[in-house]
Amino acid sequence: MIEIANLEKWSSQRMLLGKQQIGLVPTMGALHEGHASLIERSLKENEITIVSIFVNPTQFDEIDDLIQYPKDLQADRRVVSQLGVDFLLLPKEKDMYPDDYNHRIIETSLSLELEGVHRKGHFDGVLTVVMKLLNLVRPQYAYFGEKDFQQLELVREMVRAFFLDVEIIGCPTIREEDGLAVSSRNLRLTPSQRSIAGIFPKLLRSSSCDREIVSELESRGFHVDYIQEIRGRRYGAVHLGSVRLIDNVPMTEVDR
Ligand code: PAJ
Repeated sequence: MIEIANLEKWSSQRMLLGKQQIGLVPTMGALHEGHASLIERSLKENEITIVSIFVNPTQFDEIDDLIQYPKDLQADRRVVSQLGVDFLLLPKEKDMYPDDYNHRIIETSLSLELEGVHRKGHFDGVLTVVMKLLNLVRPQYAYFGEKDFQQLELVREMVRAFFLDVEIIGCPTIREEDGLAVSSRNLRLTPSQRSIAGIFPKLLRSSSCDREIVSELESRGFHVDYIQEIRGRRYGAVHLGSVRLIDNVPMTEVDR
């Protein structure tokens, strides 16, 4: 595996890859089974797989969230090299934002709903960094998880809007045994919070209406940001103590 921390070095490396089929998996590190499933898919489908790890400051609406974001580069290195990734891209903030974020992608519709209501500017940061990574890597395929379905949709729409020459591949959400979507945030739940967290994805699939799900979650100690059905999916965001969890399911998987 070749590790690239210096973007100037990257452009000559990229040139050497020529017309080989490249898959990109953008991440913010703290890699787990969810990330691994995207990486394995890319390894299967491409000649070259590139994983990027960049904790993107512009997509954090709260500085504490950025500071608390788990960072364990040693563990991440082990994961990607064991999986057989070809390149690990580790850009620095000053290289990714030479313009101090003066140029940005702003989506004015879906990005203002759901997560966008609760995390101002979050998707501007996400779309801007994804655009930068796609331009730097120039992959034919890029892999994103359905766990963050709103993000997946927004990236797809950006690719369409700007005629980007890449195909976005959505990958299914990897879940723990009790149905909780795998996330680095799960490790911050106390044992008692963790024992009830599985109720959240279960209720998203239940035949109850959005409002009933909110009351049920609140009665069990969750603080609810939203439970909302749009575009054929039911999305949810909740807090258990200081930990914020998001998830979504297609309405076809909801009990009727
Ligand atoms: P991050 O949270 O590290 O997630 C990287 C990718 O892994 C995303 O596409 C996300 O949807 C996917 N993922 C996370 N948990 C998953 C799970 N349980 N099952 C399947 N896929 C899962 O999402 C980001 O980083 C950033 O916003 C990024 C796109 C890298 C831009 O900075």
